Amino acid sequence: MCHERKCNSVVTTSDFTKLAEEVLARCRKLATLSEDVGGTRRTFLSAPMRDCHREVSSWMKSLGMSVSVDAVGNLRAFFAGASPSAPRILIGSHLDTVPNAGAFDGILGVVLAVGLVESLHGLKLPFGIEVVGFSEEEGVRFGVPFIGSRALVGRVDDELLGRKDADGISVRKAIQDFGLNPNEISKAALRGDVLGYIEFHIEQGPVLENLGRPLGVVEAIVGQNRLEFTFSGQANHAGTTPMNLRRDALAAAVQWIVAVENLARRTADLVATVGFVEANPGATNVIAGEARATLDIRHASDRARTEALDELIRQAETIVAQRGVTVKWRTLLSQNAVAMDPFLTEQIEQAIQKAGCEPHRMASGAGHDAMILAEKIPAAMMFLRTPGGISHDPAESVHLDDVAKALECGHHLLAQLAASQEFLGRTCRA
Ligand code: GLV
Ligand code: MN
Ligand code: MN
Repeated sequence: MCHERKCNSVVTTSDFTKLAEEVLARCRKLATLSEDVGGTRRTFLSAPMRDCHREVSSWMKSLGMSVSVDAVGNLRAFFAGASPSAPRILIGSHLDTVPNAGAFDGILGVVLAVGLVESLHGLKLPFGIEVVGFSEEEGVRFGVPFIGSRALVGRVDDELLGRKDADGISVRKAIQDFGLNPNEISKAALRGDVLGYIEFHIEQGPVLENLGRPLGVVEAIVGQNRLEFTFSGQANHAGTTPMNLRRDALAAAVQWIVAVENLARRTADLVATVGFVEANPGATNVIAGEARATLDIRHASDRARTEALDELIRQAETIVAQRGVTVKWRTLLSQNAVAMDPFLTEQIEQAIQKAGCEPHRMASGAGHDAMILAEKIPAAMMFLRTPGGISHDPAESVHLDDVAKALECGHHLLAQLAASQEFLGRTCRA
C-alpha cells in the first residue's frame, strides 16, 4: 500500500514497518538511561534525564528540527511549517518514568512523534510541528504529577516550586541544579499560534487487546485525586505494651487501606489504590508511632469520585477514633475528568480507518499530559494496544505492527489536518 503525498515522495507500508522498528529500538535504548541499576527509573530532572535529552535531541536534530529545553526541563523540538507565519501543532508525551518502569509509557509517544516527522521526509505542512518530551508526568519525585505540562498552561506556582522531594530538594532547586532558570518558567507557556495537541500513548490496559483492535481513540480522561494520609499514634515497646493499650498508627492505616479496597470493589467503575506506605520509626520491635499512606482514586464521573473520597475520609476518621490515633491528609492532586476535542477525536478515528483498522472510542483510566493541555488548546489522544494490558512494569510492551499502524495513522492524520480549512482556521485560547 502506498500513501501519495503532494511532494512526489511516497511512503509505503514497509517504510512504516522500518520506522516502527527504529521507534521500538529507540524506546528500548532510552529504557537503559536510568537512576537504578537493573531497572528503569528516570524521574524529573534526574541525571539520566539529561542523557535522555541528549539522545532524543540527536534524533530530532538529524531531522532539521530546532531543539531547546524549557525552564521546567521539557524537551521541545520544532519542525517548521511551509511559511514562517504558519501556526503549529504539538505532538508529544512524557520522558519521565515510574520506578521499575517499562520502556513505552510516555516515551513511545515522544519517539513516535519524532518518527512521524521523519516520515515526512522534509515535506513542509501548513503548520509547524513541535514535538514535546514532557519532563514530568508521573508524579514520582515530588508526589505531584504533570509538572512539565503544567508549565505550558501557566500552572507552575510558588507552592509547586517549593515542594520537596524525599531528599529535601525543592522543585525550584532541582530546576537550578539541572542548569535551568525557574524565573523563566513563564516563557514555557503556550503562545497563540498553537492549533492543538496530539498524544500517542499505549493504552496501559486490556480493552483493545480483548477487542482484537490495534488502535483506539480517547474520548475522555477520567478524573483523579492523589492524597497523602498521615496516621499518628504512639510509638512504644512491642514486647511490653499490651494489645489493648496500644495506639498503633500502622494498624490504623492498614484497616483503612482495606476499607479503601472494599469501597472501590463495591462502587461501579471506581478504582482506588494505596501504592505507598511507610511506617515510622520502622523497626520490628517498635509499635509504629506514625504511618504514611498515599491514595490514588479515579472515576469517570467527578461526582462519584468526590463522593467516594469524602466517604474514605469519613472512614479514616472513624477508624482512628476507635484506636486512639489521629489522621491528617494533604491533597497532592485534584484533577477533574477531561473531554478530548471532538473534532480532533473524529479526525483520529478517520485516520485509524484509513490505516485499515477499526477504531475503538474509549475513556482513559490513566492520566496524561493531554488532560492538562486540554485546559488551553484542543487536545486528543490515540491509544496503541498494550499486550497483556501490562504497564508500569518492565513487562510492558507493544507490537511492532501496531506501532507501524500508529505511524501510518499519524501520517494520515497530518494529511487530513493539513487539508482541513476548519482546522487551519481555528483560533486558540492559549
Ligand atoms: C499515569 O501514569 C497515571 O498514573 O495515570
Ligand atoms: Mn505512567
Ligand atoms: Mn504515561
